[in-house]
Amino acid sequence: MENSVYALQGIPFTQLAAEYGSPLYVYDGEKIQSQVKRLQSAFSGVDLKIKYATKALSNVNILKLMKQFGTGLDAVSLEEVKLGLHAGFTAEEILYTPNCVSFEEIQEAVKLGVMINLDNIPMLERFGTVYGDSVPVCIRINPHIMAGGNSKISVGHIDSKFGISILQLKHVLKVVAAHNMHVVGLHVHTGSDILDADVFLQGAEILFEAAMEFKELNFLDFGGGFKVGYRAGDITTDIEDVGTKVTSAFKAFCAQYGKKLELWFEPGKFLVSECGYLLTTANVVKPTPASTFVGVDSGLNHLIRPMLYDAYHEIYNASNPSGTERVYSIVGYICETDTLGADRKLTEVTEGDIIVIKNAGAYGFSMASNYNSRLRPAEVLVYKGKAHLIRKRETFEELLANQLEIAL
Ligand code: LLP
Repeated sequence: MENSVYALQGIPFTQLAAEYGSPLYVYDGEKIQSQVKRLQSAFSGVDLKIKYATKALSNVNILKLMKQFGTGLDAVSLEEVKLGLHAGFTAEEILYTPNCVSFEEIQEAVKLGVMINLDNIPMLERFGTVYGDSVPVCIRINPHIMAGGNSKISVGHIDSKFGISILQLKHVLKVVAAHNMHVVGLHVHTGSDILDADVFLQGAEILFEAAMEFKELNFLDFGGGFKVGYRAGDITTDIEDVGTKVTSAFKAFCAQYGKKLELWFEPGKFLVSECGYLLTTANVVKPTPASTFVGVDSGLNHLIRPMLYDAYHEIYNASNPSGTERVYSIVGYICETDTLGADRKLTEVTEGDIIVIKNAGAYGFSMASNYNSRLRPAEVLVYKGKAHLIRKRETFEELLANQLEIAL
């Protein structure tokens, strides 16, 4: 709250909704900047490269801001690579970490000049056969660590489809030697919503050991996964603690390796989760014998995290900042259960009120869909005290645009 009003950089949320319509994604540019700075200072003792995980929030204006703030990019699809290049990143600043894509897509990425991160042995073999030592490459290792907030977002365990098992390291080394491959980086990413500095250290230790087998490394990439707070009092990754511990372990490793390497991270949530708000409008306040529902003009089509991961997002009523608190369940307008928040205390809600959902910057718009043939929201960036429309609201014509109406 700013001066008893729910606002961003002095602009009330109610004003943003009135001007740009509802539902609306709103992002705070300065919050992104301060998160970048926090990470940079936590790792000031090493040569840190931040590769922002594009998938978290991929509006090209956000990518341009990241570029200004000094990050590179982590891209997981050719389309994200192209968005990054379009936003002004050089190919060298982009790491491409695909999973289960075709070799043809990987070849396209090689043509664009980005760093390729390979995560399975068949592709490593094909890559070696085609490119030999002519294209430097990174290898994604699966360290077999159980990490992350829940099983859906834990990806470094033994049953995960991601990365090459650390147990297959000997096989990897054979392939690399057979094709004289130029391996310049090793990568791990174990999951999202990781609380504990020790998980990063565990991953690091495994990577350090493997790294001793590769003679030409320039960087080690420890992925993303820092946990941010979703509700008051939530435990979050203590980034300064991770910084201190990982920095000293990394320095000791570099001394042993005999070369100062770059240390890479690929945060998504840490950089953009807290910057984002989803503004919705209360369509109906519906008392039932069980609870009182607030039905808003949005739902799992725009923010799928609560239904997909049981994620908690704080919600408040921006139209009645000082009203009496009551308990509501905030639900969407989608034709299936889409609870955005159950049994929440909100100040009294009247139809037409602007209901704000917090922490909606990461994996909000980027996971939005047209389910129920609903249009996706507009996006607004508030930066240097001014609001800018950075994505128009979809139109009905766009819903039909790719549908070919045949004679029936
Ligand atoms: N690097 C790799 C290889 C990844 O797969 C991911 C996330 C990241 C970095 C960034 O992770 P972050 O720092 O944002 O936790 N959609 C889910 C989380 C799944 C993310 C998948 N990969 C969510 O809304 O929580």
